[in-house]
Amino acid sequence: MCKIQSIIPILFLLFFSSCDDETSTDDMMTKPNGDIALFDELSAGRSTIFLSSSKAYDTPASWVTGSLASRFNNGDLLYDNPYTEASGLGPVYAGYSCGSCHKNAGRTPSSLFSQGGSGNYGFSSMLVYITRKNGAFFRNYGRVLHDQTIYGSNAEGKLKVTYTEKSYQFPDGETYSLQTPHYTITDWYADSISPEDLYISVRIPLRHVGMGQIMALDKNELLRVESLSNYPEYGISGRLNYITERGVYQIGVSGNKAQHADLTVELGYSSDMGITNTRYPEEVCAGQSQSPMFYHGIEVSSEEMEDVDLYMQCLGVPARRYVNNSIVKKGEEAFYAAKCNLCHIPTLHTRPEGSTLLNGTRLPWLGGQTIHPYSDFLLHDMGPELDDHLKSGLAFGCEWRTTPLWGIGLQAIVNGHTQFLHDGRARNLKEAILWHGGEGAVSRELFKKLNKEDRNALIVFLETL
Ligand code: HEC
Ligand code: HEC
Repeated sequence: MCKIQSIIPILFLLFFSSCDDETSTDDMMTKPNGDIALFDELSAGRSTIFLSSSKAYDTPASWVTGSLASRFNNGDLLYDNPYTEASGLGPVYAGYSCGSCHKNAGRTPSSLFSQGGSGNYGFSSMLVYITRKNGAFFRNYGRVLHDQTIYGSNAEGKLKVTYTEKSYQFPDGETYSLQTPHYTITDWYADSISPEDLYISVRIPLRHVGMGQIMALDKNELLRVESLSNYPEYGISGRLNYITERGVYQIGVSGNKAQHADLTVELGYSSDMGITNTRYPEEVCAGQSQSPMFYHGIEVSSEEMEDVDLYMQCLGVPARRYVNNSIVKKGEEAFYAAKCNLCHIPTLHTRPEGSTLLNGTRLPWLGGQTIHPYSDFLLHDMGPELDDHLKSGLAFGCEWRTTPLWGIGLQAIVNGHTQFLHDGRARNLKEAILWHGGEGAVSRELFKKLNKEDRNALIVFLETL
């Protein structure tokens, strides 16, 4: 299952090279072995950490010290705290802690892959959004299907997935196959919903790599990136998503459709776990025909939620590895040759003042940094096969935010699987590329035309991110 094996032979061939003349002092950072890191290695400026273990997404940046460190640790504990009925979980829910779905601040393997849909053991690690075909919610259901439940209530429904597999060929004869998911929902707790009037959008969790940097993105730079994202010769033109959050109409940056402007702490507690809080004081199933048996009042405080926000934004971003290896360099060239960089743009900057947390705590350390997220944070039409028919802010069903690729090569180590794309249908990095349609089709076709060696080098390059 673990596709990272392909990079292991390189591991033995490599050593870290020392100083680089092109590195400006602003971007310099010393690695644990005393060497100066190269510009390309520094994924997130001073928040870069030199770690490639299963804790690579879940370790604070080096500037997290003193009282910041104690708040970080508190946030970390709250994030991983397994809620139970006694502490307010449910009555219906999708996960029992943030960390249950984002294990090691990553992507917990979903029951989609192991159990064919909703898990049977109080756990599934995914979100299932449901709407009527006209975009409205169903009576007795909300935006998210809560497929788990505490004792004595009924889950709202259970997701089932089946896959059909189809084989294809690269121009040079190598074969590959892609599996298309088919989703159905059974065991509706109240009104049975007819499949004819139902859109189902399944999402596996996102990696928490660079959450603070994403919150500190320079919005003027994003507006410039949007105006430059116009390549008629390749059929590519991205656009920003805008959403209204806390009464403010603003640019969305987080979530698979850039449908959020913050790190969704309050929403995650309420909608994913059924934990009431100051922003969402009502139980998530309040008003539905299955009302809570007990109302605990506010189950997580706004101070606690700010610590969770702080924890995510203070996480270090793993440095790139093996940047000077010749196969990696060849793969990087192939990445540009296949025009991946037109959407997965390597370099952006954070705004000078850094970021501000939910209750106003400022994190100036996140400011003024050169970062390498490999994303433009824009929406792109990815074609009919990835269309989930769900509108989020300005995003149509076929539109998705370019997924940041920093840290992607460590997902196998951090979470023990290589499922990619919003619903995890791609079983490895190669399949993720081959699913690119719509504006991404040009890259898919250029990738297919590369020779096998260059295709493999491109994958190895991704594994160093
Ligand atoms: C049931 C599983 C589940 C639980 C529990 C859960 N999440 Fe998530 N999380 C997801 C999924 C799935 C997505 C992708 C959602 C989307 O694109 O619509 C996501 C996305 C996110 C993102 C956006 C990341 C990005 O790169 O844009 C953040 C931040 C986040 N979750 C934080 C949290 C926090 C904080 C909690 C706890 C309060 C939490 N999550 C609980 C499944 C979960
Ligand atoms: C038109 C813009 C565009 C181009 C060009 C493009 N991508 Fe993407 N990429 C996206 C979007 C949008 C997604 C999210 C799609 C989804 O989740 O359904 C994505 C997702 C991915 C993912 C999955 C990430 C994850 O964690 O699940 C990988 C890997 C990836 N792209 C690599 C590449 C490579 C390599 C190339 C060049 C061969 C490329 N992309 C070209 C926009 C683009």
